Amino acid sequence: MTLTLPGALGTGPGADLLAEARCLVEPGLRACGERLPAQARRWAGYHLGLLDAHGRPVAAATGKAVRPALAVSCARAVGGTGREAAGAAVAVELAHAFSLVHDDIIDRDEVRRHRPAVWKAFGVPAAVLTGDVLLALAHQVLADAPGPAKGRALSRLSRSVIELVEGEALDVSFESRSDVTQDEYAVMATGKTGALMGCACALGALAAGAGEARASHLASFGRHLGVAFQIADDLLDIFGTPRSTGKTAGSDLVTRKKTLPVLAALASASPAARRLAALYASPSPPTEEQVRQAAVWVAEAGGREAARKAAELQLDLAFAALDDADPAPSAVRELTALARLLVDPAS
Ligand code: IPE
Ligand code: MG
Ligand code: MG
Ligand code: MG
Repeated sequence: MTLTLPGALGTGPGADLLAEARCLVEPGLRACGERLPAQARRWAGYHLGLLDAHGRPVAAATGKAVRPALAVSCARAVGGTGREAAGAAVAVELAHAFSLVHDDIIDRDEVRRHRPAVWKAFGVPAAVLTGDVLLALAHQVLADAPGPAKGRALSRLSRSVIELVEGEALDVSFESRSDVTQDEYAVMATGKTGALMGCACALGALAAGAGEARASHLASFGRHLGVAFQIADDLLDIFGTPRSTGKTAGSDLVTRKKTLPVLAALASASPAARRLAALYASPSPPTEEQVRQAAVWVAEAGGREAARKAAELQLDLAFAALDDADPAPSAVRELTALARLLVDPAS
């Protein structure tokens, strides 16, 4: 079965890399699903877009394969092949899948990849167990992969998941705080998104025989790219459409997330910032109209522009770290294109 790339990502070297990564990981994801007992197979297969809610095979719109693409290209960056990174690519996609299944419970988000989230389709207990099984599979795939670097790879994956969990915990704690700073946001986003993207880069490089120093430079590239990507995700939540994101629009505003566009808007001391602060301080959930209004205030207060600039700054840091890894020029071209595509899909 051929899985199609979400149309919003267009064409070019970044989109080509994503398509290649999708093809590389699909058989591995499918094989993992087949190893599972029946219930877990159905839930995990559903989340991965391999099965419908009744357990029948489908070609649903699934993930973009960003993390596998990073693993594949970072293997090439150190002189290896994409194929050498296949196990790493499957492992990071499974770890990412785990984080999304649990994240949708945490965020009370009902829609993921244009379909009901796992907890909506099967209930919260099933979704907790689905996340657990996906994370276990991620470790199993790395443990089964050939090569001398598997111990270091497993250790990096475990550390990145622990950091991701810390980032998610901070994200939740920010919902009920009104004094969150942009520096605190950066720590949170580095944890919840940067850690695993950095891990994807490092694991791809390690699978291709890179030493620790080079893998660490590539991890730093992925971590900064992850923060830029998270800022872009925050912007899409406020200003994107469910058609392009496959998620509910404005969900972060409903849960009073302290995303970067909101924090930057609140810091602007403008009338729009004061209105936004009052809405965020209100104990009752906002109406759909208030959510639409809040998006206008974020833009008016300069939050949209400030967040775009912050994402660009993170991209600059990412590219500097990439340069430190002394990467193969062809990999630089595709990683640069991918990074630009992820942070500014309209570019
Ligand atoms: C969560 O960030 C990142 C992880 C899954 C750890 P978000 O909560 O912003 O992700 P979306 O918007 O639900 O995809
Ligand atoms: Mg979420
Ligand atoms: Mg979240
Ligand atoms: Mg989001």
